[in-house]
Amino acid sequence: MQEMLWKGIQRRFINKIRCDTVIKHYSTDTFSLYSRLRNKNVFITGATSGIGQACAYNYAHAGANLIISGRRTERLEAISNDIKSKYPSIKVIYTELDVRNKSQIDKAVSALPKDFKNVDILVNNAGLVIGLDKLVDTKVEDIDTMIDTNVKGLVYVTQAILPTLKRTQGHIVNIGSIAGENAYPNGSIYCASKHAVRAITQSLRCELIDTDVRITEINPGMVETEFSVVRFRGDEAKAKDVYRGIEPLKAQDIAELVLFSTSRPKHVEIATMTVFPHGQASATLTHRK
Ligand SMILES: NC(=O)c1ccc[n+]([C@@H]2O[C@H](COP(=O)([O-])OP(=O)(O)OC[C@H]3O[C@@H](n4cnc5c(N)ncnc54)[C@H](OP(=O)(O)O)[C@@H]3O)[C@@H](O)[C@H]2O)c1
Repeated sequence: MQEMLWKGIQRRFINKIRCDTVIKHYSTDTFSLYSRLRNKNVFITGATSGIGQACAYNYAHAGANLIISGRRTERLEAISNDIKSKYPSIKVIYTELDVRNKSQIDKAVSALPKDFKNVDILVNNAGLVIGLDKLVDTKVEDIDTMIDTNVKGLVYVTQAILPTLKRTQGHIVNIGSIAGENAYPNGSIYCASKHAVRAITQSLRCELIDTDVRITEINPGMVETEFSVVRFRGDEAKAKDVYRGIEPLKAQDIAELVLFSTSRPKHVEIATMTVFPHGQASATLTHRK
């Protein structure tokens, strides 16, 4: 009888240890997905539409302050007013910025108001594709626009903000593309520019290894934004046809990954995320219904 009682006590004790272990492991902190973003200052390039705009709203929702940028000032103004009215507890400013213009970037970054000087997160999102042409037919101005925006622009903005990120133990998110992982015909310059984003991200991660700055690359497949409209120079019908028979990703899907990757604990560095809509398996392989 005494032996049975003793075994019962032992069993309850062992169960308690098991329970405590489980409870400790799954503390509520593990589930507070975005709480680390509160009061952070987030600088987003290309926030006037698509992925950049979705990031702005999502960071605002998470309680972060925003510096949104892009070339279309009237859109920046409208977005910043709308965010201020929806999220009155956060601070938002906008700055007109063409990422191809290094001196404009340097001026804008050094003119940031006091409350925004300490940038914690940089989302290098501004980017574009122009045309769907064979290499031999690609116009010089289109080559320059893609390389100057997607590669040199990303480098200029990073150079301007990185010294601050070293102080703030910050985070860089580079929006690459599946075009930076696989090349496809009639897209050589865009693919080259996104392969460059990949190389720059990897080199920078090595250079930053002894700092507290983290860097993440997110490579989306098809996302329905203004991207294809820009590619086909405003031809909405051609742009729509890109997504025929497939449910493309939304800007929101990518913004959620950007927020997730920048809200992990300090010891977690998400290096690369590749994300497709279901029905896409590479830059060239899609199944359309
Ligand atoms: N949509 C996709 O299928 C897809 C897939 C993979 C990767 N991506 C990448 O995702 C990023 C965002 O694209 P998106 O899909 O959201 O397209 P989007 O709706 O066309 O947005 C592109 C953004 O980039 C900005 N931008 C373009 N040139 C700029 C410049 N010279 N200076 C500053 N900003 C500039 C645009 O703003 P302004 O015109 O106002 O300057 C706009 O806010 C890009 O890097 C793109 O390569 C997109």
